[in-house]
Amino acid sequence: MKKIPIRLLPLAICFLPLALFAQKTSVQNIDRRVEDLLAKMTVDEKIGQLNQAAGDISTGTDVKQDNLLNQIRAGRVSSVISHTNFSNKITMQRAAVNETRLGIPLVFGFDVIHGYKTIFPIPLAQAATWNMAAIEASERIAAAEAAADGQNWAFSPMVDITHDPRWGRVMEGAGEDPYLGSRVAEARVRGFQGDDLSLPNTLAACAKHYAAYGFPEGGREYNTVDMSDQRLRQTVLPPFEAAARAGSATFMNAFNTLNGVPASMNKYLVTDILRGEWGWKGLVVSDWDSFGETIKHGAAEDDADASAKCLSAGSDMDMAGGTFQRGLKKALEQGRVTQAQLDEAVRRVLRLKFSLGLFDDPFRYLDPKRREQTLEKPEYRQASRAMAAESMVLLKNDGGLLPLNAGGPFKKIAIIGPYADSRGNKDYMSFWTLGLGMRQYDSTKVVTPAMALKPALEALGFEVTITPVCLDAACTEVDYSAALNAARAADLVIACIGERGIDCGESRSVSTLELPRGQERLVQIAARGNKPAVVVLFNSRPLSFPWISENVPAILVAWQPGFEAGNALTDVLTGKVNPSAKLPVTFPRSTGQIPMYYNHLGTARPQTRLGEIWTSGYLDLPNTPAYPFGYGLSYTTFSYSDLKLNKSVINKSETLEASITVTNTGKVAGEEVVQCYIRDLFADISRPVKELKGFEKIKLAPGESRTVTFKLKEKDLGYWNHQSKFKADAGKFKVFVGGNSSEVKEAEFELK
Ligand code: NOJ
Repeated sequence: MKKIPIRLLPLAICFLPLALFAQKTSVQNIDRRVEDLLAKMTVDEKIGQLNQAAGDISTGTDVKQDNLLNQIRAGRVSSVISHTNFSNKITMQRAAVNETRLGIPLVFGFDVIHGYKTIFPIPLAQAATWNMAAIEASERIAAAEAAADGQNWAFSPMVDITHDPRWGRVMEGAGEDPYLGSRVAEARVRGFQGDDLSLPNTLAACAKHYAAYGFPEGGREYNTVDMSDQRLRQTVLPPFEAAARAGSATFMNAFNTLNGVPASMNKYLVTDILRGEWGWKGLVVSDWDSFGETIKHGAAEDDADASAKCLSAGSDMDMAGGTFQRGLKKALEQGRVTQAQLDEAVRRVLRLKFSLGLFDDPFRYLDPKRREQTLEKPEYRQASRAMAAESMVLLKNDGGLLPLNAGGPFKKIAIIGPYADSRGNKDYMSFWTLGLGMRQYDSTKVVTPAMALKPALEALGFEVTITPVCLDAACTEVDYSAALNAARAADLVIACIGERGIDCGESRSVSTLELPRGQERLVQIAARGNKPAVVVLFNSRPLSFPWISENVPAILVAWQPGFEAGNALTDVLTGKVNPSAKLPVTFPRSTGQIPMYYNHLGTARPQTRLGEIWTSGYLDLPNTPAYPFGYGLSYTTFSYSDLKLNKSVINKSETLEASITVTNTGKVAGEEVVQCYIRDLFADISRPVKELKGFEKIKLAPGESRTVTFKLKEKDLGYWNHQSKFKADAGKFKVFVGGNSSEVKEAEFELK
């Protein structure tokens, strides 16, 4: 047995019988300890274990917080969410273990969305790397930092698929595709949890928001969701199922109603599918007051009704709202929930705490020395820089304008725009960097383009000026003329434009995807100087910028890259890193095209030319996107040849192998994400025109070729039909392989 520190002796004596069994957190051991403890608990203590109280940061609507420490002492708090102050966490944990009757430790939860102290690129950008090992590694770093700072539980990953980039939370997910979303979900769960939740550098993960939160009407946060069961199962649920199968310890309900039923009281979602069909055994936490919001949805009468409905649906813990505190006992007394239902929810909470090792050492995650040694290690920054560079998507590079090379025709470079050198607004990051604090944070930790790109270009022999403009709510004439003057004095313009960091994330929906604050006009005006330009977009969602797409030779989507923004941008623009990222989400030409996603059904009347009537299209805009899903350029070029199938007919137990040769046809080494899609040509119902079924990221030297093989089985060819059955229909299929969802080679086969 481990040595017990002196300060924990009283606690250890009190828990000696439990500690003797604490050697290894086997499931049986945990279950036995849970039952022992449950048998000692009063109803009030049980209800207390289902209550999560808000800490020192508020990430939701106002909730009434009576003195938190007194609530803890009274055994009314099981978990604290969003608490940053380290020593307060120690005080709170002491109160929980030393001053309550049963000494049950608190579990601390936190939104760890793209790094904790070391900020990584936003999750959507991470998905653009298509590099699952890098994503897993970034979450491992975030977990190490958060766990060293006393957090035990990450409210992450967000695995919501969306078709609507107006929705601010598109930045938190992996985009529009259920297959890519599932692989990313697994990588993140593995990254947070590792193999052992009780280790001091892992966190419990939380797959959220269950479910369908990414499909709010009008793209408006918290709004109504109404969809077929088929779309739910085919598009929305796969990443959740992947997270469940990867062992995500917890799930979070969503705020929305789904087909009229608030997700928190949705038995079909929580009990029938998650716990029933998938056999998942973890804890379900509400979203911020989402149990209480069932009342506001008009789907519950009062706290008791809401408590009864949410608990009966299979949800367990009440985040921040206090609804269970006020209503669950009454619901129990009225016989609307049973003691067995209450016990089951409490078991899930206790199991989580045992798995995290909190009973064995409640201060395991509250060691000031480890905190000191772990936070913000230089190697974490290196990982963040590499990931940021790997996430940047090159949309356009006419005439090989990039990378910038000192031997080229340009000597003077003007870096202009609001994000040339911004030091506030959580720019280059997002609102979801709560580990840094909410509004006040140390912005000197962020490397801006002016700090990194300018000196790097100067070292290469360029003359560089920085002209930050359009810093306010809208660009003014003064901004426009400053930009034009800077452009006139230079040979090349780099325009750093996009969105403010604080405009990315929850409750940050927009009604239009156009570049905000008149920034497209900024580029237009700067172009009057007749100098070639590189547009660098710092964005959290697909934006629409038709004039720039048409007229600017080089466009790089840098997303919100995190702390290492300027360094990563330098790596890409100078060619130290060859871009390899691919869009995990379609970029529409205009807001009016939403919803726009590559894996749509084929209409019976596809439009073949603009304005063609009696077809499905617009009079004023083509049906194609500005940039399709899976798209992204490199400084080299790749050719695809020789798509071969091992068979032209397979039966349901056989595997189809599709092989293709990819060649680096350019002059520099590069990485390519080779993507494999299928189409079920005719089935019992209509099927999407393409569906991603595999991808592989490969690195090729100039002139090098590699054969990549994808394997497809019956389950890859199957689908959820209109009667909620998963099946694969015999018949013809197409398989497509290429470097994005529109430019592909194709072959046909048949499933018998
Ligand atoms: C509400 C958000 O929807 C959820 O994602 C987050 O984890 C909680 N607030 C806690 O901050």
